Amino acid sequence: MSTATEKTAVDKAEEYYNSTPADEFYFKIWGGTHIHVGIYDHAKEPIKDASPKIVHMMASKLKLDSNTKLLDLGSGYGGAARFLAKKFGVQVTCLNLSETQNERNRGLNKEAGLDKLITVVEGNFEDIPFPENSFDIVWSQDAIVHSASRELVVQEVVRVLNDSGEFIFTDLMQTFDCPKSILKPVLDRIHLDSLGSFGFYVEQARKLGVKKTEVQDLSEHLTTHYQRVMEETQDRYDEMVETCGKEYIDTMIQGLKHWVEAGKNDHLSWGIIHMNKSNVDQTA
Ligand SMILES: C[S@@+](CC[C@H](N)C(=O)[O-])C[C@H]1O[C@@H](n2cnc3c(N)ncnc32)[C@H](O)[C@@H]1O
Repeated sequence: MSTATEKTAVDKAEEYYNSTPADEFYFKIWGGTHIHVGIYDHAKEPIKDASPKIVHMMASKLKLDSNTKLLDLGSGYGGAARFLAKKFGVQVTCLNLSETQNERNRGLNKEAGLDKLITVVEGNFEDIPFPENSFDIVWSQDAIVHSASRELVVQEVVRVLNDSGEFIFTDLMQTFDCPKSILKPVLDRIHLDSLGSFGFYVEQARKLGVKKTEVQDLSEHLTTHYQRVMEETQDRYDEMVETCGKEYIDTMIQGLKHWVEAGKNDHLSWGIIHMNKSNVDQTA
């Protein structure tokens, strides 16, 4: 059962991602396909070039084909879904509470001729609307950060995965010793009061009987990514103020500065967490 605080976090995420300024900001500045941290070969690499690389990196850890049933939690505009469906023929279900993003996602899937392979469902990943043993893979990128009940999200994932299922995801996290005073302005940008950590997720997996969990720390890319988002927003300031409003853009730039600063001071973490429910290695 959800507590009042959990409901508030879900409501806030829904309201935020459905709002016109946020939708316009993510669609225009982040490139219209992906809304997650990218993998950067150099500090000035365009966001749209860096973003797909993490999707490819995650996919390379899995055995994927046209029999694979995959659930993407907090699927944004569906960039990962289209890549997985097109490249491997994967049957993807996108679960996302933002109907604004879901509409864009459905439209882009249709345009790409992938709407038969990708189903877009409105819903909350703290209460996944599917029975147990429904999926081979659960996938998620930079979305669980929005939950005030991450323990419950992992529990739900384990429930809907089949017995040899795998959960692969990235999340924006804090380092073990990040001071609370540093975290506060960082969290204000996403209206939350805590972040997960690599240790937290490894411990959740252990408690739920998950047999194998691997982590790949890619934290250095988080700072570069937020620096790039900030630069892009500053470079296109007038255009973005006209689209999203001055207050939204000024608050966003201020928030991004806190993320860059906290990242540079090694207070934030980001990377891939890969859980296997069984000991059987599914990798090709
Ligand atoms: C930073 S975006 C990432 C989008 C997408 N995964 C990507 O990488 O492009 C976070 C996403 O999580 C979704 N989200 C946040 N809280 C959610 C919840 N409780 N249930 C389902 N989706 C949620 C948002 O609507 C948004 O699409």
